Amino acid sequence: MCGIVGYVGPAAPSNRPLDVAMEGLARLEYRGYDSAGVAVVTPDGLASAKRAGKLGNLREQLEAHPLPAGSAAIGHTRWATHGAPTDVNAHPHLSEDGRLAVIHNGIIENFSALRAELREAGVAFASETDTEVVAHLLARQMDGSTDLTGAMLAVTRRLQGAFTLLAVHADAPGTVVGARRNSPLVVGLGEGENFLGSDVAAFISHTREALEMGQDQVVSITADDVRVVDADGSPAEGRRFTVDWDANAAVKGGFPTFMDKEIHDQPKAVADTLLGRTDAAGHLVLDELRIDEAVLRSVDKIIVVACGTAAYAGHVAKYAIEHWCRIPVEVELAHEFRYRDPVVSEKTLVVAISQSGETMDTIMAIRHAREQGAKVLAVVNTHGSTIARESDAVLYTHAGPEVAVASTKAFLAQITATYLLGLYLSELRGNKYVDEVAGYLEELGKLPAKIQEILDRQQEVRDVARAMKDVSSVLFLGRHVGYPVALEGALKLKELAYIHAEGFAAGELKHGPIALIEEGQPVFIVVPTPRRPTLHAKVVSNIQEVRARGARTLVIAEEGDDAVNEFADVVFRVPRTPTLMMPLVTVVPLQIFACELATAKGLDVDQPRNLAKSVTVE
Ligand code: M6R
Repeated sequence: MCGIVGYVGPAAPSNRPLDVAMEGLARLEYRGYDSAGVAVVTPDGLASAKRAGKLGNLREQLEAHPLPAGSAAIGHTRWATHGAPTDVNAHPHLSEDGRLAVIHNGIIENFSALRAELREAGVAFASETDTEVVAHLLARQMDGSTDLTGAMLAVTRRLQGAFTLLAVHADAPGTVVGARRNSPLVVGLGEGENFLGSDVAAFISHTREALEMGQDQVVSITADDVRVVDADGSPAEGRRFTVDWDANAAVKGGFPTFMDKEIHDQPKAVADTLLGRTDAAGHLVLDELRIDEAVLRSVDKIIVVACGTAAYAGHVAKYAIEHWCRIPVEVELAHEFRYRDPVVSEKTLVVAISQSGETMDTIMAIRHAREQGAKVLAVVNTHGSTIARESDAVLYTHAGPEVAVASTKAFLAQITATYLLGLYLSELRGNKYVDEVAGYLEELGKLPAKIQEILDRQQEVRDVARAMKDVSSVLFLGRHVGYPVALEGALKLKELAYIHAEGFAAGELKHGPIALIEEGQPVFIVVPTPRRPTLHAKVVSNIQEVRARGARTLVIAEEGDDAVNEFADVVFRVPRTPTLMMPLVTVVPLQIFACELATAKGLDVDQPRNLAKSVTVE
């Protein structure tokens, strides 16, 4: 889950390769921020710098000790796996003669055996990382030649695990060589310059033309050429695509943090995800469909696999898809699905939800599902990502780049996309008529304006959050689709504010969690629309139950729902919304609450401790 950037192009103006690498790292820092480092191939050899901590530390070092200009550069921002986040363990890692530099994302699983072998051969290691073995293996493989591509092919054959590697060598100036296995690497195609990146954010401000790399391929870029080869060294063609993300979407745009900006992007994320989904006859269409429609009609079970926030979107989807399609839907954390013995057949549709499309747990789950004969449909935000490529069908969320580690707009876009999927399947399978589907689409189309209404009133949530900055525990309750919203509210607070937060199904309260309630315990309660009277009444009772035991109740309820007033210490209002679509509005105050409370505590909401945006290791 580290960020990787590579560049070859003109050395002028100033030190363009280094500038491009540093700019790319700033855009990739969300992938990890334990340390950062760069290496530049200069006419006099290799120059490098690296520092523990955020990119700012490296920037300071480079200002104090500038690197000489060169024709190629690589840059790395780290999420530590092997070895503490120190200067020494930061990437790049160099060969003993200092003429070769390597950066790496992933885990080299057989690094202990390789390190022992290299030690035996007399190599002295400088760091505790798994990556350093690659630097020494590559240097030995080159053994005086200038064939960095050949060396990379030979070395990667010896590696086990998941990796993206980039390497530069003083004897191969003007070249960066990259390799990937089970970890992302994209090529950016420029005019007289070329790029490599963990994702397109690395080069989006320079080019939108990109090349997808396949599994186990090695690429070498120079200023004028890009060559891709398969693991056996035979020439290969990557798939070209044009990036449709706006470069400005990945900057803060006047907001104090990316998270603030992305919360405000949500009306657009939902609107864009809904855009252009029907054909001329009004039928819903998916983005990529490599499954026969007859197979989709015969599906007898859906299993959603995802992690974290994406899994909560899957929980919400379950309620809608079961209701609309009458197909049983299971929701499973991808890492649990993979390592038990799930009942999967040719009639199972596995729906993988992922913002990045690179979450390793989810990738392994879909591979397992396909091995068992299931079809896989991906709901992803990132074009060309591994999950999109390896699935039988794709429905893209159009949230645009999400930079803050805490997922916000991707969550809303995922819910929206899974609703489209549910409606698509309901129509295809004859559960709903096309005009019924049109009615639901019309309701979905009203959501962006409703989300905007909540954003327009956000100050009241922010004021409450600031006043609560010293709380040590917050509970969240919800029923029906409010339950996954409660889970998501708790996750946001945990990851951003580092305080104890738990979400419960409100009905579960009396089965144990109510013992947690003591005088003053803050409890958020997500209340369903009063137009579902039975459900609504049950949740209103739950508010009373916690209040009777001293809880401070913070209630999220629909406008005009006066039944909650008597039992609520604070009420946050959301616009009137159909039951199944309520998560798209009720979660917004919870996102704002977590963002503001963490900010009030002086914490970095874009880069919370110990986390990385894309979890590309298992
Ligand atoms: O990229 P993905 O959607 O597959 O990521 C899944 C989770 O890692 C992600 O949602 C994570 O839980 C977020 N930090 C939550 O805010």
